[in-house]
Amino acid sequence: MDFPESFLWGTATASYQVEGAVDEDGRGPSIWDTFSHTPGKVYRGDTGDIACDQYHRIEDDLDIMASLGLKAYRFSVAWPRIQPEGSGAANQKGLDYYRRLVDGLRQRSIEPMLTLYHWDLPQALEDKGGWTSRETSERFAEYASVVYEALADSVSFWITLNEPWVSAWLGYGIGVHAPGHKDVSKALAATHHLLLGHGLALETMRSAGHDDNQLGITLNLSAVRPASEDAVDADAARRVDGNANRLYLDPLFRASYPEDMIEHYRAESDFAFVRDRDLERISAPIDFFGVNYYFRHTVVDGGQRSELATAMRFSDLNATTVLPEGVETTAMGWPVEADGLTELLVRLHEEYVDVPIYVTENGRAVYDYVDPEGEVDDEERVTYLDAHFRAAHDAMQQGVDLRGYMVWSLLDNFEWAEGYSKRFGIIFVDYGTQRRIPKTSASWYRDVIERNGLPDDDS
Ligand code: FCB
Repeated sequence: MDFPESFLWGTATASYQVEGAVDEDGRGPSIWDTFSHTPGKVYRGDTGDIACDQYHRIEDDLDIMASLGLKAYRFSVAWPRIQPEGSGAANQKGLDYYRRLVDGLRQRSIEPMLTLYHWDLPQALEDKGGWTSRETSERFAEYASVVYEALADSVSFWITLNEPWVSAWLGYGIGVHAPGHKDVSKALAATHHLLLGHGLALETMRSAGHDDNQLGITLNLSAVRPASEDAVDADAARRVDGNANRLYLDPLFRASYPEDMIEHYRAESDFAFVRDRDLERISAPIDFFGVNYYFRHTVVDGGQRSELATAMRFSDLNATTVLPEGVETTAMGWPVEADGLTELLVRLHEEYVDVPIYVTENGRAVYDYVDPEGEVDDEERVTYLDAHFRAAHDAMQQGVDLRGYMVWSLLDNFEWAEGYSKRFGIIFVDYGTQRRIPKTSASWYRDVIERNGLPDDDS
């Protein structure tokens, strides 16, 4: 099973999850520093203060990437390293760090894929309303232009936002992520201002030249299906699809918010935050589209109890997600359904996206441990990735223009509200010593990249 010659195999990480060094070289506090230091917010009170210490170990980690034969590395820039207060002049030392990272990648022939915003909003901006304020969209565009000016000569792939759904709904709607608000109307305003920030950032980056660079955005998307043939379940699935997928896809690709969602949220919001020309800006052409895929939502009507970790997210929709029979869950409690990736990619191709697509995150948490031989044998992760790569290949056979695949993650890291308890890396991190131990999946992935494909199913 071969992939196209230029297929971009890579791994992904994000600043707050791996860097540590939160007080160094002029970095200001972000909403995740505040949130993780608030008792009761993160599992066992874990914080990103040290994380994988990548800020100090970047050369070693670059060598690990090279040893895997990675073609690409997706990382994010910490806004508070560049603008400690969220606006104004750039902090040169912050830019220097990413210059070292980017140059280190280029020296090793690894393509940098840069994300501008992976959730670490400067606290100073949250103090003025964060993403519920339109002002933050403008600050984001200003920040984007600062980073673009510094790195556009060496970075070809630019992702404005990572998963605005998560920023808006987990951060402002449900409150399990920073900044921890629990208000549906705030989640809706945050949704719009995040998307507007994307649109404004695109404008400033486009006007800065470097026309060959590729500008895009990454959404977390799910395949959605009703759990039964009941009309009420089908309608619940429509609502979940509306919130999880269409609320983001429609403004980006159709310059409108979905009518049924505007209606659904009528009591919480009149959408008055949408001003003239906003949707035109949000839907300006992009060069590629990033998809993070982790699970499918199988939906029943009503707000019943469900043990499924992905279920609590939809309390405002009177819908619940359930585990289909025979489907395994990961250490996160997320259902494993590789064919959902094929279904999702084909749908995007048919209904929304006419630019190249990259899977910018996919992977699973495993209860990894170092065994007495000193090895981490994560065969569940190998099986998972193998199935998802095949599912992606299947989508390509059906016409999807998929150009690359970033495995989440290079390293075990700070998994947000779950702290260090969930491991997603293909490299194990022993946090106490910062020792990196490649798991079985790391050598397996190196072979996939070298072969640029997978052995045929029956071999
Ligand atoms: C995604 C995030 C990423 C990581 C994975 C497991 O939602 O973008 O940072 O936490 O989930």
